[in-house]
Amino acid sequence: MLMSAAVYERYGAPEVLELRQIAKPQPRADQVCIAVGATTVTAACGMMRRGDTAMARVVLGLRRPRVRFRILGMEVAGVVESVGAEVTKFRPGDRVFGFTGFGAGGYAQYVCMRESSSLALIPSGLGVDEACTLVDGPTTALYFLRDRARIGAGDRVLIVGASGSIGTAAVQIARHFGAHVTGVCSGKNAALVRSLGADQIVDYTEQAFETRDDTYDIIFDTVGKSTFRRARRCLTIGGRYLVTIGGPLSFLHDAWSRWFGSRKFVFGMSVDKRAALETVTELVSNGALRAVIDRRYPLEDIAAAHRYVESGRKRGNVVITVSAP
Ligand SMILES: NC(=O)c1ccc[n+]([C@@H]2O[C@H](COP(=O)([O-])OP(=O)(O)OC[C@H]3O[C@@H](n4cnc5c(N)ncnc54)[C@H](OP(=O)(O)O)[C@@H]3O)[C@@H](O)[C@H]2O)c1
Repeated sequence: MLMSAAVYERYGAPEVLELRQIAKPQPRADQVCIAVGATTVTAACGMMRRGDTAMARVVLGLRRPRVRFRILGMEVAGVVESVGAEVTKFRPGDRVFGFTGFGAGGYAQYVCMRESSSLALIPSGLGVDEACTLVDGPTTALYFLRDRARIGAGDRVLIVGASGSIGTAAVQIARHFGAHVTGVCSGKNAALVRSLGADQIVDYTEQAFETRDDTYDIIFDTVGKSTFRRARRCLTIGGRYLVTIGGPLSFLHDAWSRWFGSRKFVFGMSVDKRAALETVTELVSNGALRAVIDRRYPLEDIAAAHRYVESGRKRGNVVITVSAP
């Protein structure tokens, strides 16, 4: 049986993504096959499509993407269509959402995932378009704020990129943990960021937060627009500077910072999202977390969706809706 998928065979501009008819995947014994209802275009999808960075190409393929990475889409939501012989956790008909990771595969009518991977039941009342946006952003925010920075009630938290995918989740999650939240965004997104729970806004087009006198227990740069060196003066003693973008040196800095320095530099990768997805379900169910959707595109318009995300201006998330065969 065939299915539609957006495939790319070479690195480059959004136009390298082409809609094709390819063989529908069959679940292995420990896998579920999901009929994808919706997926997203993340900043990371764009990086993979461009073949950024040189380091990433070691995994993705040096000159062109390896065959197993040729369908992008890391956040998926849909309905379990069939399950492998050893699967016990999910049944056909279950509504699920999850993170496919580097293997991606979401830009297709079907994707197979191991039942033990970052996959969970969609909280009741949530549509697939909303569910797919509540995977990478919130789980990455939980990884940094809760697991690495040990956020607590009363902490003063500054979130850079508060209107992005991770940022919109981070504002809500920091607020849920009882923090005082300052969002750094442009004026046009101030109302959105306030509506998510930010107590204060710094408009980065008018003033750099590093030039202000305020100090924070946690600075979370979700979009890599600041540096530890410049932000350091805005951290309290024992304060944590969290950043989502970095390379090998960032891992070294993170390791060094665990032992030395009065203010901590934190970098890492949120990969295993299983436990965090359970927390996301709780947060959604008790009204502490909601989806922020900027635009929706059908799978056929995937190149246009990539172009928009590449503008760097998206608010929250861009959803790709996938229709059944
Ligand atoms: N380490 C990890 O585990 C991990 C996990 C997931 C993602 N990531 C990485 O995290 C990065 C961010 O992802 P994302 O999807 O959250 O970003 P995003 O949604 O693409 O960010 C877009 C937002 O950033 C805002 N922005 C742009 N320049 C800004 C500035 N100077 N100050 C404040 N806000 C600014 C834009 O608002 P305006 O239009 O107002 O400028 C826009 O709303 C990506 O590079 C991704 O690869 C890392």
